[in-house]
Amino acid sequence: MDLQIKSFEDYQNTYQHSVENPEAFWAGIAENFYWRRKWNNVLDWNFKEPKIKWFEGAKLNITENCLDRHIYQHGDTPAIIWEPNDPNEAHRVLTYKQLLDKVEQFSNVLKNNGVRKGDRICIYLPMVPELVIAVLACARIGAIHSVVFGGFSAQSIADRINDADCRLVITSDGGFRGTKDIELKSIVDDALVQCKSVERVIVLTRTRTPVSMIKGRDVWWEDEIKKVETQGNPPCPAEEMDAEDMLFVLYTSGSTGKPKGVVHTCGGYMVYTGYTFTNAFQYQPGEVYFCTADIGWITGHSYIVYGPLSQGATSLMFEGIPTWPDAGRLWDIVEKHHVNILYTAPTAIRSLMAAGDSYVDGKNLSSITKLGTVGEPINEEAWHWYDQKIGHGKAPIVDTWWQTETGGFLISPIAGVTPTVPGYAMLPLPGVQPILVDENGKEITGNDVSGNLCIKFPWPGMLRTTYGDHERCRQTYFSAYENLYFTGDGCLRDENGYYRITGRVDDVLNVSGHRIGTAEVENAINMHSDVIESAVVGYPHAVKGQGIYAFVIASQHHTDEELTRLDINKTVSRIIGAIAKPDKIQFVSGLPKTRSGKIMRRILRKIAEGDTSNLGDTTTLLDPGVVDEIKEGAEKLRG
Ligand code: WTA
Repeated sequence: MDLQIKSFEDYQNTYQHSVENPEAFWAGIAENFYWRRKWNNVLDWNFKEPKIKWFEGAKLNITENCLDRHIYQHGDTPAIIWEPNDPNEAHRVLTYKQLLDKVEQFSNVLKNNGVRKGDRICIYLPMVPELVIAVLACARIGAIHSVVFGGFSAQSIADRINDADCRLVITSDGGFRGTKDIELKSIVDDALVQCKSVERVIVLTRTRTPVSMIKGRDVWWEDEIKKVETQGNPPCPAEEMDAEDMLFVLYTSGSTGKPKGVVHTCGGYMVYTGYTFTNAFQYQPGEVYFCTADIGWITGHSYIVYGPLSQGATSLMFEGIPTWPDAGRLWDIVEKHHVNILYTAPTAIRSLMAAGDSYVDGKNLSSITKLGTVGEPINEEAWHWYDQKIGHGKAPIVDTWWQTETGGFLISPIAGVTPTVPGYAMLPLPGVQPILVDENGKEITGNDVSGNLCIKFPWPGMLRTTYGDHERCRQTYFSAYENLYFTGDGCLRDENGYYRITGRVDDVLNVSGHRIGTAEVENAINMHSDVIESAVVGYPHAVKGQGIYAFVIASQHHTDEELTRLDINKTVSRIIGAIAKPDKIQFVSGLPKTRSGKIMRRILRKIAEGDTSNLGDTTTLLDPGVVDEIKEGAEKLRG
């Protein structure tokens, strides 16, 4: 069976079948993958506990699907094209055959270092091919990877290592991003002061920044590879995994508390990422596909590594940033490697658009046939610029809506098959059953309506639990509305039945496409010794989509507000990472609270947006006077 849907009519029929008979549908899709043993049961589920099991009884290893099965016919096809940060450094290409060899080699390194099936491994690496190799090596031997984005602080790494009880960390001396050399190993060293479970650190050489190597704990990647070579480079057969064995943990922010470890399992995730990748992008053999995300986020996991590789695609990964050496870097890469499919985030599009057309005019982008966006709602202006300037009006744009928890795309156009409308994710992919509900969980039917977006039936790529705390998973996603998975997003369905995601309805911010919980930022700000209390909200930001606005009550003994702002920013960078630094900090003497002590964020959001004409009912506030003071302060801050 051909996995790809070829026409809109085909989509409609496939969708119909997938909803009427989901088990038969997904079993048919799963037949396109390599299983050592087939399943006894396609699906067993309830959203109450929740319990979600796909392809129970099946045995597989995802790396056999991503590597081994392509070797005979497509061993020389490039699997990974790597473009370095510095355009003057040579790029690298790893064919499927070469990638498999390297993955087997590093799998043996992990085994030599005592890693066994089920162990948790923290990976904190820059965007180099060794990151892909490390991820796949874990999967090959059944170790559970937990990749931490290189922008997170030592404290964030420590929290994640401790939560998952990781035994081993894979990092590098440093990483290049634009003109910066980020000292990754040094950050890991700071983290490990708090981590008792870590026995071994494998350190890759990338920047050759001086690093401290601790005897008995730290070893060089290159030395460990040499050891495997002197052992004669034995193959490393893939470990046989159950479909429902854990594949990885990836931490993500929610509206409360610390980030939680979203757990994905081997079988369903493989089927779902492969199916959605090949369909949404209509990938054709030989095409070069370039996703600009970092593998530290779900987009990189699903759509740089697992989805494309399970489909035998050529996946281009980029170490640097879109604006260095100048804002034409992505277009240079497209030209150099004849990129056919480009998948990026609205925030990148907006920043490159703002840099001016001179960086794109004159670049040969004729290889591009399909475009994609992800991570946040895309505004119409950016959509049209992307369409005209990058796609020359000929490349369909797939606006893919999904989440860390969903594993893969849920609502998205299929390139060239589904019609597109700027700002719309359009229609659910096969197997996905979205519904809109009101505050009370009542379904909102019909078209030209909006509500909270839920999904009423499982799909193979959905999260199974949150690491070490199943109850938290239930509460976060399955308790708001009975028998529904709640996404946390607001959504409208227009008169044609097309879906448009309007943004988070909970206390989660989306800053440059990165998810950050307001509570998380508040906790970090409150760590600063001068801070008494704070409240964080999002506000519209021209490039980032949302900016972080912090209202802070500080003790009075400091005099230099600007310096205190910098101190607070430094504190947030230390506790979470630079990505969570507030864009604006306003000092206030009080916060608008109800008599029961609840902060009225609705009011703060309005003030942060600069829309104070209608703040709604403020009579229930403990001290209504504080609102006027905050309004005045906000105007002053805007200048
Ligand atoms: C938002 C990223 C509008 C949404 C894959 C979601 C989007 C959150 C889109 C998940 C889109 C993602 N249009 N909003 N195409 N894609 N979002 O877990 O609010 O980092 O809930 O996964 O990003 O972010 P996450």
